[in-house]
Amino acid sequence: MRYLITGGAGFIGSHVADRLVGRGDTVSLLDDLSTGSTANIQHLLSGPSSAAVRFTEGSVLDHSLVSQLTREVDVIVHLAATVGVELVVKKPLETLLNNVRGTEIVLDVAVQRGTKVLVTSTSEIYGKNAAGALHEESDRILGSLLKARWAYATSKEVDEIFAFEYWRQRKLPTVVARLFNCVGPRQTGAYGMVVPRFVRQALTGEDLTVFGDGTQSRCFCHVMDAVGGLVALLDCDEAIGDVFNVGSQNEISVRSLAELLIEMTASSSSIRYVPYSEAYEPGFEDMERRLPDISKITGLTGWVPRQGLKEILEDVIEYERRPLAGAEAADV
Ligand SMILES: NC(=O)c1ccc[n+]([C@@H]2O[C@H](COP(=O)([O-])OP(=O)(O)OC[C@H]3O[C@@H](n4cnc5c(N)ncnc54)[C@H](O)[C@@H]3O)[C@@H](O)[C@H]2O)c1
Repeated sequence: MRYLITGGAGFIGSHVADRLVGRGDTVSLLDDLSTGSTANIQHLLSGPSSAAVRFTEGSVLDHSLVSQLTREVDVIVHLAATVGVELVVKKPLETLLNNVRGTEIVLDVAVQRGTKVLVTSTSEIYGKNAAGALHEESDRILGSLLKARWAYATSKEVDEIFAFEYWRQRKLPTVVARLFNCVGPRQTGAYGMVVPRFVRQALTGEDLTVFGDGTQSRCFCHVMDAVGGLVALLDCDEAIGDVFNVGSQNEISVRSLAELLIEMTASSSSIRYVPYSEAYEPGFEDMERRLPDISKITGLTGWVPRQGLKEILEDVIEYERRPLAGAEAADV
């Protein structure tokens, strides 16, 4: 099969490319390198599989470019988006334009040829719903629209509605995956992602900056596991027209995460608590808990995440210890 991966030089996109190329598919990667990097795909572009990979630097907002690239593929994996709490709070308008218009263009182009599209959404769309494991039909409890952070969840909600309605009304095969906190090698800590940021702070002996009181909890899923979930959905015709949580139930509070990483890296760092208003913006709201119910995707495809929290963190620590990591950290 031939795949177009938008956001293909990003964290998740580059791992999706690895998996697809590894099983014999060809991939066309489109990325504007706003948060992604060619370093993430260099091994694909220059390695033995280079004939199966093509990279185009450009934007999903470029209708004619997306149209041209779509002509050459069977399936689109749409990952390009403005991501990361820090970035979203700084640039809510850009987030909306990029995420909503980008998805609209991808679907508009895909419908002309009936090209299947996997749209990636997020656990953020459940907002402040902290009532245990969230299943796909759980309520969304979002805060005031005057708070910039909700721009991301709102943009992804619109993306989901686009995907559902293109299927319902225009018979375009679409699948929506709601990703819950993926982590692993190649994720940058530059835009508010907590695990790579903590690991870098621990390795350089800086204080680990916990935003809020650290009691908020998250479930971290290894990116390789998450990619397995995305590929299982891509391969499953019964998934079309539907939405699936993709994440793990490795739950930990942010404070315990900081303590665990200090221990695992044998770091001399301390923990420093930073109020949300200082870290992001006055009145910033966070989610207390974000635990996925994954029974829907497991029931349909058999997919379950395999990696435990310690294995995941070990992978990130090893990645951040590689010689280049220091230079990259200085860049961001
Ligand atoms: N990482 C997570 O835990 C997580 C959780 C929920 C949802 N997601 C979703 O997964 C997708 C990938 O996220 P990621 O974590 O790999 O982040 P990422 O920032 O590494 O990936 C996004 C990629 O899209 C590219 N991009 C942004 N705007 C673009 C545009 N207009 N045209 C072309 N390329 C563009 C960026 O340069 C980057 O390479 C996103 O849609 C995100 O919303 C990720």
